[in-house]
Amino acid sequence: MKHEPANPFVFGQVIGPGAPFCPRPQLARSIRETVENRQRLVLQGDRRVGKTSLVEHTLAEGDGLLVSIDLLGLASVEDFMDRVLARLEATLSSKRALTKHLPPDMKEALSMVSSLRIDLPFVQVEAKPVKASTVMQVMSLLARVNEWKPLTVFFDEFQEIADRLDEKAAPHLLGVLRGEMQRHSRIAYIFAGSAKESLTEIFTASPSPFYQSARILEVGPLPRDAMTRFLDSQFLSGGRGLDDGVMEAIFSLAGDNPNDLQQLAYHLWARSAPGPLGLTELRAAVVTLMAEVARSGERVVGNATPNQRRMLFALALCEGEADVFGTAFLELAGLKTHQSSDQAIKPFLKGTLAVLEKQGSRVRFRERFMRIWVLARVLRNPRLLPTGIGHAGQWVEMVRPHLAGLLQ
Ligand SMILES: Nc1ncnc2c1ncn2[C@@H]1O[C@H](COP(=O)(O)OP(=O)(O)O)[C@@H](O)[C@H]1O
Ligand SMILES: [Mg+2]
Repeated sequence: MKHEPANPFVFGQVIGPGAPFCPRPQLARSIRETVENRQRLVLQGDRRVGKTSLVEHTLAEGDGLLVSIDLLGLASVEDFMDRVLARLEATLSSKRALTKHLPPDMKEALSMVSSLRIDLPFVQVEAKPVKASTVMQVMSLLARVNEWKPLTVFFDEFQEIADRLDEKAAPHLLGVLRGEMQRHSRIAYIFAGSAKESLTEIFTASPSPFYQSARILEVGPLPRDAMTRFLDSQFLSGGRGLDDGVMEAIFSLAGDNPNDLQQLAYHLWARSAPGPLGLTELRAAVVTLMAEVARSGERVVGNATPNQRRMLFALALCEGEADVFGTAFLELAGLKTHQSSDQAIKPFLKGTLAVLEKQGSRVRFRERFMRIWVLARVLRNPRLLPTGIGHAGQWVEMVRPHLAGLLQ
């Protein structure tokens, strides 16, 4: 019996070297140039648009060392130092073959990594400010290692420093880091982040220590034709050919975000056998995907007040097109005032119920499939909105037929 290949689609995680990856030649070139010329580069873009994968994938090979430091959930300056040291240790130990032949003074420097880590004071209740010299010591270790092997230091989710540390600690840490990095003219530094406003501010606001210190590159979704070829070839590797119209439907449902596209493709693969794949298989995949989203969806909608619910329903119908404080939106959601709209949105912007996010003056669902799950609910029962769904808009009409399995 022929062995059926494993599902090639990956979502919700970094795509490491060797895993199927849709090439992004221009961005990859900028990254390689940054490394070769020991420059500084900021990659900014929406969540799950592929920033981390791009860096990890592009720099996996080559003889330099990549130290990737993920700052997501950063708790303190000590935590920052611990993360830097832990990643440095991990990078070096993954290159055992190299570290065996270390010059003695380098060995000594590296043994400092472990001892520094042990010395870091943790869980201080009444945290004293961490001395700049400790941060400097950690950063100077990077310079030591770099004397031996060219280093690229990648700070992922860099905005977490500004977002999660307190008002004093954040500028202090940024100031010290900037000072140290300025002296590291032989180290390449790459920064990435998704909470756009605070990240941009770090690099573009004139009082910030990082003001104009790096080139900023926008990472958008992958071009549709490149992504189409990528998805097609993955399906073909498992003997699956998409019928006419299926790829278009996939893009209507999932949008342009590569993570969402891969998530839907994953389910389509899982719900099908080798052979041609049509809209019937796609509908079955949407049903499974929605059953997954339903778990958190029910929790969000189930506990919401009537105002909050109507606001979520109205947003599912017309986010992006509507100003959530405009009269048309208020009428659709049956909300009387600007304040009631604001109140209804608030609990969904932060914490465990955070299904919405602000983008400038607009509000949208953080997850495309949460929007579709909520949308299916209103389409099934248009009376959930006081004015009905009326003229639902072009996109809604386009996806409606593919939600057939959910609308009965
Ligand atoms: N080049 C790519 N080709 C195919 N899929 C990708 C690519 N880049 C990202 N993805 C998809 O997006 C998901 C999230 O990628 P990730 O690098 O974690 O994004 P970010 O760091 O921007 O949040 C991956 O799990 C994968 O499904
Ligand atoms: Mg990332």
